[in-house]
Amino acid sequence: MWMCGYGLSNSTVGIIGLGRIGLAIAQRLKPFGVKKFLYTGRQPRPERAAVVNAEYVPCEKLTEDSDFVIVSCSLTPETEGLCNKDFFQRMKKTSVFINISRGTAVNQEDLYQALVSGQIAAAGLDVTAPEPLPKTHPLLSLKNCVILPHIGSATFSTRNTMSVLAVNNLLRGLAGQEMPSELKL
Ligand SMILES: NC(=O)c1ccc[n+]([C@@H]2O[C@H](COP(=O)([O-])OP(=O)(O)OC[C@H]3O[C@@H](n4cnc5c(N)ncnc54)[C@H](OP(=O)(O)O)[C@@H]3O)[C@@H](O)[C@H]2O)c1
Repeated sequence: MWMCGYGLSNSTVGIIGLGRIGLAIAQRLKPFGVKKFLYTGRQPRPERAAVVNAEYVPCEKLTEDSDFVIVSCSLTPETEGLCNKDFFQRMKKTSVFINISRGTAVNQEDLYQALVSGQIAAAGLDVTAPEPLPKTHPLLSLKNCVILPHIGSATFSTRNTMSVLAVNNLLRGLAGQEMPSELKL
């Protein structure tokens, strides 16, 4: 059984934050035979949920029932440190934790303990706090934790699209015109 892991076929996948990225992830996972999608957020999002037939549940139920827990929510005062000891204790010992949102949504010491103690099976992190993690960070010593250097958007095509968007935003803003992606503060 060396190098074996858990598959998506017949699994329950829980998505924290069914926004643009959360839904895009669900759509890509669906063909792998996911049995059920759960999601949570500040409120139900029926139109998005309908695309993958996802069920809205409280965060507690999502963590208890999911085989894969995926964090794709915005970082806000409510979500900072959301994935802590209590959160991991609710997860199944066979479950996998994924974070693609922002590093500080996770209490990394609690995650480390959950992975070392076998409270959860494994973790995959595209984001950490800080970035990059120091080479001596305990999470980097674990066999059941895969860490990427925040490369979720790292394709030539996506980075070019992001650059064009930023430039157009700037030019329109300087010209006093409506911006294509205005950040409303
Ligand atoms: N790894 C990467 O390379 C990468 C690239 C781009 C973005 N990101 C990160 O990915 C995240 C999502 O981006 P996006 O573009 O999908 O944003 P988005 O479309 O605005 O979606 C954000 C989601 O967060 C949810 N949310 C907000 N507060 C929440 C709470 N308290 N509990 C649970 N869910 C909550 C929202 O759900 P409701 O509105 O229904 O509450 C919404 O579904 C962001 O943190 C972003 O920084 C990472």
